[in-house]
Amino acid sequence: MDEIERTLEEFEHEIENADNLEAIKVIRVKYLGKKGKVTALMRHLKDLPKEEKPIFGQKVNKLKNSIEEILEKKHEEIIFKEKESKFEKERLDVTLPGARKTLGHRHLISRVLQEIEDVFLTLGYEIVEGPEIETEYYNFDALNTPEWHPARDLHDTFYISTKDGTLLRSHTSPVQVRTMKKSKPPIKIIAPGKVYRKDYDVTHLPMFHQVEGLVVGKGISVAHLKGTLDYFVRSIFGPGRKTRLVPSFFPFTEPSFEVYVSCGICGGKGCKSCGFTGWLEIMGAGMVDPNVFEEVGYDPEEWTGFAFGMGVERIAMLKYNVDDIRLFPRNDVRFLEQF
Ligand code: DAH
Repeated sequence: MDEIERTLEEFEHEIENADNLEAIKVIRVKYLGKKGKVTALMRHLKDLPKEEKPIFGQKVNKLKNSIEEILEKKHEEIIFKEKESKFEKERLDVTLPGARKTLGHRHLISRVLQEIEDVFLTLGYEIVEGPEIETEYYNFDALNTPEWHPARDLHDTFYISTKDGTLLRSHTSPVQVRTMKKSKPPIKIIAPGKVYRKDYDVTHLPMFHQVEGLVVGKGISVAHLKGTLDYFVRSIFGPGRKTRLVPSFFPFTEPSFEVYVSCGICGGKGCKSCGFTGWLEIMGAGMVDPNVFEEVGYDPEEWTGFAFGMGVERIAMLKYNVDDIRLFPRNDVRFLEQF
C-alpha cells in the first residue's frame, strides 16, 4: 500500500517538471510500460493473501487511472503551450502601415519614341527597322557619301571590320536605302532605332536613338516636308510652337535643311536656353538627292521625296528641359521617376 502511495508521489513530482512531449513519453513508459512501475505493482497482486487482493487491486487500478488521466492532461497542456508560442512568434500586427510597392514605368526615351511614332502612324506612315550592324555601303556609299566625302569624317564611326566594311550604323538613314531597294514607290516610312558614334559629352552619347523619315511619291515637294514637320512639331511640343527650315547640307538630300522649333521657354524672344536666338535645332531634313534614287533604281525624273532624321534624346531634352543627355542611360530612378 505504501508502495502505491510513493509511486503516485514520485510520478506527480516527475510530471510536474516535464515540459515537453518527449519527457512525457519517457514518464509514460517508466510507469505504464511493460517494465513500468505500475505494471510491476499489478504483477505483485498474485503474491498477496486472498483477502488483501480486492483492496490492493482497486488501489493499483485507481493509481493507473489517475496516472493515465494526468498524463493525458499534461499532454494536452504542452501541445497547447507549443501552439501558443508558435502563434506568438508568428504574430502579425495588422495595424502597421503596409510596405509600399513601387511601381515602375517605361523609360522616358521609350515614351518619347512612342509619342514620335504615334504622330507618324496617325499620318499613315509605316514603321520599318534595319540592322544596327551595317555596312559602309548602306551607311555611307549608297547615301551619296563616298570614301573621299568630308561628311564621312563628321560621323565618328565605330568600325567592326575595315576589311569587309562592317560598322555600327552611325544613323538610321541606311534604312531608307534598304527599304527603297526592297519595294517600289510610293513610300511613306519612319525608321526608329539605335545608332552609334564615338562621342560623349553633355549633348552626345555613344549610343542614342534616331527616327528617320522617308516619303517618296509623285510631285512630293518641300511644301509637303514643311507641312509634315509643322504638324509633327505642334503634336510633340504643343500647338503654339513654330517651325523654321534653315538651309544646310547633307550628302543624301538636296536641298538640305536644319529644322528649328521656336523656343518654348521664351516663346521665341530669345533667352539663355535658345542661346538668345529664339530657336532650337531639332533635326535634319531635305529632298532626297537624285543620286540616292539612282542608286536604288528609282527614276529621279519620275519620283521625288523628302527625308528627315531626328535624335530621340534631343527631342526629349528639349521637351522636358533636360540639360545633360547622359542622365538618360544612367538610369538613376530619382531622375527617371520625375517623368
Ligand atoms: N542622318 C542624319 C544624321 O544622322 C540626319 C538626317 C539629315 C537624316 C537629313 C535625313 C535627312 O534623312 O534628310 O545626322
